[in-house]
Amino acid sequence: MEKQRIFSGIQPSGNLTLGNYLGALRNWVSLQDEYECIYSIVDMHAITIRQNPKDLHERSLLTMALYLAAGLDPEKNTVFMQSHVLEHAQLGWILGCNSYMGELSRMTQYKDKSTRLGDSIPTGLFNYPVLMAADILLYNAHLVPVGDDQTQHLELTRDIAIRFNNAYGETFVVPKGYFNPFGARIYDLQMPQKLMSKSAENQQGVLFLLDDEKTLQRKISRSVTDSLGTISYNDNQPGVKNLLNIFALLRKESIDGALAYFEGKGYKQLKDGVMEAVLDTLLPLQEKVYELMKERDHLEDLMAQGAQKARSIAKVTLADVEKKIGFISRRTNEHCD
Ligand code: TYM
Repeated sequence: MEKQRIFSGIQPSGNLTLGNYLGALRNWVSLQDEYECIYSIVDMHAITIRQNPKDLHERSLLTMALYLAAGLDPEKNTVFMQSHVLEHAQLGWILGCNSYMGELSRMTQYKDKSTRLGDSIPTGLFNYPVLMAADILLYNAHLVPVGDDQTQHLELTRDIAIRFNNAYGETFVVPKGYFNPFGARIYDLQMPQKLMSKSAENQQGVLFLLDDEKTLQRKISRSVTDSLGTISYNDNQPGVKNLLNIFALLRKESIDGALAYFEGKGYKQLKDGVMEAVLDTLLPLQEKVYELMKERDHLEDLMAQGAQKARSIAKVTLADVEKKIGFISRRTNEHCD
């Protein structure tokens, strides 16, 4: 039986966080044997907010190094830079012509950002979910492993796919989200009602994958708990709940197992336990990343090979879409090769 296909991506728009790792990256690694996996570094999404070019360049390489260091095998998976496969932009345009202002205006991520940016919100931020739909539909992915915050974008992708299929005939696989129930939401250590995010204004509650040991220790030891003093897993204790989640995920334990481990202990021991689990995971990861970053040329070679594999699928889908909407065939794809 043919393997089902998976697509997902991370923006190199900031330093990756423990949320990205537990909500996405680590799950991707566990899927690579069972599925045909395509993982992208979505640099075109990153530029929806103005980036410093040097930083974007560096972070794109670092993200590639992180993908590999986390255990993604570039032989087994297709790993590539989004901007290296021109079909993403082309399909993005076509899908943009098949989506509506109304549905895009309802995206909560857009609404949040537009409140902050007012009239100067770049149109790219508005169109961003259409490009995300193009990413997924180009590969006819069945499943999309993401954190919870992407649910609305996935719903939109499904709506656009169904709409296109209805208008032009069966073209796209309608994808489903794939969530790890606990990893799907990792919260900020200072504001445990808010998701941990690369773009948080206050970085004290955000564990970056490449934070040094002391910084990680400091951030965890200062994480917000509550005044109840008991370690239990419930919504009235969001800080403690989040720490338990992080511990359980990193130690590959159940929540009950984590609760048993901390039974009779206090918040100091909880934080120490989390600290140990974070350092045991991130320090070896960092070592691998810095090793890989010594071979930048090799990283770029791998990106190019990944793009070639990705394009071999993407161009077939795009040609089919273009034919269905009435474009004249290009006969050659030389401009893309
Ligand atoms: P991005 O770059 O914001 O995040 C990458 C992945 O990390 C997950 N994530 C989290 N999961 C749990 N807890 C958190 N605190 C947390 N923070 C981030 C996100 O849910 C995501 O899975 N639009 C996407 C990138 C994208 C994409 C795609 C994803 C572009 N095209 C196609 C899937 C398929 C984004 O901005 O993710």
